[in-house]
Parts: sequence; structure tokens; C-alpha cells
Amino acid sequence: MRTIRVETERAYDVFVGAGALALAVDHAQGRQKRAVLADETAWKLHGNGLNFGPQCPLLLLPPGEPAKETAVLHRCWEFLAASELTRDALLVAFGGGAALDVAGLSAALYMRGIDWIAVPTTLLAQVDAAIGGKTALNLRQGKNLVGAFHQPVGVYADPHCLTTLRTSDFRSGLGEVLKCALLGSMGLMELLESHAGALVARELELTGKVVAACASLKARLVAADPLDRGARRELNLGHTFAHAIEHVAGPGCVPHGLAVSVGLILALALAEEADILRDATLTERTRRLATSLDLPTSITQLAQLAGKPLPPEEILRAMDLDKKTLADGLRFVLPRELGQVERDAAVAPRRVLRVLQAACR
Ligand code: GLY
Repeated sequence: MRTIRVETERAYDVFVGAGALALAVDHAQGRQKRAVLADETAWKLHGNGLNFGPQCPLLLLPPGEPAKETAVLHRCWEFLAASELTRDALLVAFGGGAALDVAGLSAALYMRGIDWIAVPTTLLAQVDAAIGGKTALNLRQGKNLVGAFHQPVGVYADPHCLTTLRTSDFRSGLGEVLKCALLGSMGLMELLESHAGALVARELELTGKVVAACASLKARLVAADPLDRGARRELNLGHTFAHAIEHVAGPGCVPHGLAVSVGLILALALAEEADILRDATLTERTRRLATSLDLPTSITQLAQLAGKPLPPEEILRAMDLDKKTLADGLRFVLPRELGQVERDAAVAPRRVLRVLQAACR
């Protein structure tokens, strides 16, 4: 078992490895009152690994993004109240990023905040969503527009849960792993380069090692900047492009991590265009690694996946809507070299367009 400490105001641990589910059960059984909010599909596949006993109330959430709705959140609060959860109770959140978002937000607001633990069951959630206390709902106007920061009191990630993921969901998680490699140490990049095939095949020990490396990176950035006003924004590397592409493709048409993979390549190209990238070999190295992780590297590949064109001009327009851009122009997180980024690079829209056009050829 690997343990990573997240040093926030109230520090907590991320446990990664076989047996993490049993540790989550131990944690919950230390509380007199507890309840579980779980993604329905994940619970069917892995809920038997979490034996809280017959007295533990359970509410199943609709699978995936449809759970991130006000009506579902309301149902969660009523379930917590009907289960007679008090302020000293513990909520267990089980599932992928969407289930954790809803459960975390339920915990943040029920009785003005109760403790929760996260048991992430997708690669994306294990390397990103479960750590750092971001919780959110979607509105018709956009994703994650309503939410709160509410750190969990423990995160329990068992790589065994990843063996049942659909290939497309696992690949989507790999997009975030690739981002961590660019933000992190030479060690993670080299590990991925030398073991890409085994990771794609979900070899358990290796997967745990990679999840732990990504979790360590995230723990460091969250500890430095829990409210996402500085260092933590490095985690948005590739995301300004990715969110715009997802917006143009339409809801659910391009898996988030695949858009991130292309977003990373575009961020590298833009960093070159803006004379920010110091290591000229990094773009080709990242492209090669993405390909060996079975990830897309061009907008053209994403357009094929979406079954519709993704015109550069529309992607550029969508960037204006991205909540991470500021009033005075387009701002990006751009790589300088492996493990180093410029967090707030302003780049003229015409240069961004040039990079987008090149990625469509
Ligand atoms: N997913 C990015 C963050 O947690 O800040």
C-alpha cells in the first residue's frame, strides 16, 4: 500500500493499492453514523468489496455526468436526513469523478458540512478528481458552474477497480496521467515511456505506482494552493484547449482525457509558437508517449471520434467562454520544460488560431 499525505488545513491521506477498500471500511466503521452515496454501475461491480454491514444506508446515483444535477443533489440531502446523519457522521463517496463531485457537494452543504471519504473507481478519479476537495454540479449553461471546496478526510484508491473500466474510460484517465508526467518529475515520464504497454494492459502493480505518482503531484499542488488561485492552476495544463474542443464537439462526444491529450500537444505547440518552450525535444517526446498510450494527438483524430468537424475558429471562440480565461485576453498554462510551466501566459488569439489550424492538418 502506498500512502500520500495531503497537507491541507486538516491533513488527510491518499491510500493507493490492493486492500484500499478494506481500509475505507475500517475508516467508516470508526464512526457511529455513516452512509454511502455510490455510482450505480461502480457499486454493482465493486460494492461487494465494501462491507459496511446491513445497517449502513446506501443511495445509488445515476452513472456518470447525469448525476451532477440539482435534483440528484436534493435527493442526496433528503437521503442523508432520512438516514438521521448527524454532524459527526461520515459520508462515503464511491465511484468516478461525477459521483464524487455530487457526494462531496452533498457533504459540503448538509448540516453546513460533514466529513466524507472518497473511494474513486475510475483512473480519472484516482489520479485527479478524488484529491483536493473540488466538488461541483453542472448547469445548462456549462459544466461545474456550481460547487464548493470541501476536502475529504481520506481517499482510498484500489487499482483493482480499474480492471472493469471500459477501454474508453481507462484511456480517458491516461490523458490526465500524461498531463501529470509533463508537470511532474523525469521519473514519471521515464516510467511511462518504458512501461506504456503494461500500463495500457492495466498491470496492477504498475498501475498502482503510476496512480500514486500522479496523486503525489496533485497532493503537492493542492497543499500549496488549496483554493486554486496559484500553483494548483498548473493542473489546468492542456485544459483550456480541451474544454473548448469538448464544447464544440458537444456533451459526451469526446472523452475528457482524450481532449486533454490533444490539449497537451496544443499547449506544447503554443509554447513553441510563443517562445516559452525551452526544451525543443519535449513536443515530439510527448507525442510519442501519447501514441504509445493509445491517446490521440491531433484535432483531426478527435473530429473522427466525434463524427463531426471541429473547426479551429469555433474552438477559438469557445475558449472565450472558458471560465479560466480572463477579461484581458486568452491566458494559458504553457510548458517551459519537463516539470516546469508558465502559469499565466497571455497569447494573442491569432497565434492560438495558427496552432489550432496546424493541428487540423
Ligand atoms: N482538477 C483540477 C483540480 O483539482 O484543481
